[in-house]
Amino acid sequence: MSVNLKSFLAQQNLIYKNGSLHSGDTSLPKIFAKKKTPFYVYNLDLVETRLNELIEAFTRPIHIHYAMKANGNLSLLQFLKNQDVGLDVVSAGEAKWGMKAGFKPSTIVFSGVGKTVEEIEFALAKKIKVLNVESLPELKRIAQIAKRKKTKASVALRLNPDVEAKTHRHITTGAHYNKFGIEESAIPQALEIIKKNQKYLNLVGLTFHIGSQLLDVKPVSEALRKVKPLFQSLRDQGFALKHLSVGGGLGVPYQPHESPPDVSSYGRTISELTKDLDCDLQLEPGRFLVAESGLLITEVQYVKKTSHNEFLILDTGMNHLMRPALYEAHHEILPLQETSQKEVNYEVVGPICESTDVFARSRKMKEAKTGDRLAILNTGAYGFSMSNDFNLREKAPEYILKNGKLLLK
Ligand code: LLP
Repeated sequence: MSVNLKSFLAQQNLIYKNGSLHSGDTSLPKIFAKKKTPFYVYNLDLVETRLNELIEAFTRPIHIHYAMKANGNLSLLQFLKNQDVGLDVVSAGEAKWGMKAGFKPSTIVFSGVGKTVEEIEFALAKKIKVLNVESLPELKRIAQIAKRKKTKASVALRLNPDVEAKTHRHITTGAHYNKFGIEESAIPQALEIIKKNQKYLNLVGLTFHIGSQLLDVKPVSEALRKVKPLFQSLRDQGFALKHLSVGGGLGVPYQPHESPPDVSSYGRTISELTKDLDCDLQLEPGRFLVAESGLLITEVQYVKKTSHNEFLILDTGMNHLMRPALYEAHHEILPLQETSQKEVNYEVVGPICESTDVFARSRKMKEAKTGDRLAILNTGAYGFSMSNDFNLREKAPEYILKNGKLLLK
């Protein structure tokens, strides 16, 4: 095994011992033996490690609002709630689910470009901490609803700082061509709307989020450098801003040659840049906290050889994990139990009737046969949460791994 792969696995607390994949001391083939595939499993101990790593990287207090779109597993949410983390939600559905997990509305921030009337009414009725506003028409809609409901809405403006996050073009969100956030030139109009509706709108914060899967964290500080003068100017204009949010976006290595992001430099730089701002600092991480905790366990159904290719046909596909089909995302795929040392170039595919239902093309892997179990790595973020029942295949069950023990949900 290459040194790269070994340290890549170690980063996820995984290791091969006598040919079987272990999470720490726990033999995964053994612990999963009676579980029917396909299923997801999330290692909560690793989530805790990542959470502490993030908190410790900052030299000032931070408020974490976990972006639950990454993974809304109830046990995971309850675990995070018990660690004093809040939530970042993007629909009333997510907010309700978060509240079911025990999160108080006062710890939930509501983002998203398309909030409906019902969603805004819901947020106001429940006294959700803040609505992150993404456009002028949304701001006007919130003011109208607050007026009708005789209440005052806490809002934060989400600025589109127009920076290029160095990530996949499908997951940048802070550039001028993206649908997200309010461009800087429209901020004065937003402030006018707020002033005109000061009985109904309370501007409490400023927020931005430039993209996801950032391994190079410099664009975040670039954005922060742009946002900071605006924050100060809003304060000077008399808006009593309580918080500044730098969004989420920290990435994780998906391939053995990739390095983890420099979390401590991320924390240090943001702490440094905000040390003269007397406000709460908020973060909305999703992937960084949960991606590496997750495995999607699958069984090889068929090995199909054609004159062109050798296909490994699995019992899971783009219905359970869309990322490869949607973003050509790379996920490592490894045997739970090594049964052969021979290497073969496989097309690893799912059962769905779509030609894009491919996990890996021409991937050099250990030879596999029908019935072998494989682990698809780094699937704790945007795996189950983006899954669907296309072809009327059932969603995959989810298990939790905690202190070496396997728990359902
Ligand atoms: N805050 C806002 C406003 C967001 O839009 C997002 C993610 C986050 C926080 C959390 O970002 P994270 O820390 O997870 O990078 N489905 C894609 C990722 C889409 C991310 C969307 N926004 C994927 O599978 O790569």
